[in-house]
Amino acid sequence: SLSFLVSTTTLAQTAPDYDALIKQAHQKYKNNNDGKVADYIPALATYSPQNFAITIATVDGKIYQTGDVKKAFPMESLSKVFTMALAMEQHGPKEVLDKLGANATGLPFNSGLAVELTKGAPENPLVNAGAMSTVSLVEAKDKTDRWNKILNNLNAWADASLTVNEPVFKSEMDTNQHNQALAQLMESYNSFYGDTREAVEIYTRQCSVDVTTEQLAKMGAVLANNGKSPYTGKQLLNEKYVPQVLAEMAIAGLYDGSGKWLYTVGLPAKSGVGGGMVAVVPGKYAIAVYSPPLDSAGNSVRAQQTIEYVAQATQSNLF
Ligand code: DON
Repeated sequence: SLSFLVSTTTLAQTAPDYDALIKQAHQKYKNNNDGKVADYIPALATYSPQNFAITIATVDGKIYQTGDVKKAFPMESLSKVFTMALAMEQHGPKEVLDKLGANATGLPFNSGLAVELTKGAPENPLVNAGAMSTVSLVEAKDKTDRWNKILNNLNAWADASLTVNEPVFKSEMDTNQHNQALAQLMESYNSFYGDTREAVEIYTRQCSVDVTTEQLAKMGAVLANNGKSPYTGKQLLNEKYVPQVLAEMAIAGLYDGSGKWLYTVGLPAKSGVGGGMVAVVPGKYAIAVYSPPLDSAGNSVRAQQTIEYVAQATQSNLF
């Protein structure tokens, strides 16, 4: 019985073989051609549906990766998490709850109906309405300062000097009438906290910031590590607020796919229509995956499959 104890103890202490797991997932899902590359932002339609990259970043600062890890992609909705964290750091979780909310809409990420049904309340900071409202809530002297605060915050989380993908930004600015309408609809109900034109433009710019899966995984690892970057040692978010950020991700990170995701995988996560996705395993690791083809809710198909595979193999379901 002593040898039994010794062997189970050894097993429990062995770190999962992240390197093998991500390679298995890449092999398993690379030929799955389900989903469709986003084209409502014309510049996104130019990305290859074959692009596929996986990175795991652990709280002890290790990186494991495979696939097209040099290929950068626009953050799109992934950016919403980190600007929400900035707003929370500035104003605290009560104000985020009161002004931006923490409920699912049950409707698509850019739904005008959702805003109309609540008389202007965006419901949460991760749908487009709530994310633009979040940008308007960031404390800043002027437009330049607002953008600098948002970009500097993304840079600190990613441990990198991120840049705007200008063709994607121009393409989205030319075609973002729906988002302009959402912002004005909220303003008409007094639930916008700044100039709509400025907030829509800065929101669009933050969505156009390029990242790699390594940078995105490092951003997720800050949340996995109680708000402190395992890479720079900087406390980027008050550790008391981390559960609220993760709760918002659980509620709406995959939009109308969030409930099914929580039911099957059980991890807070966030997607973007550029094909990126990140999931957080508190105290352990974050996993970022990039592959452009999306399901009908706007979430990368291969990313969801990969994260589910790794989460199951590492017994990471929080419930
Ligand atoms: O506003 C938009 O429509 C895009 N900039 C972002 C949407 C998005 O990424 C939704 N995600 N899955």
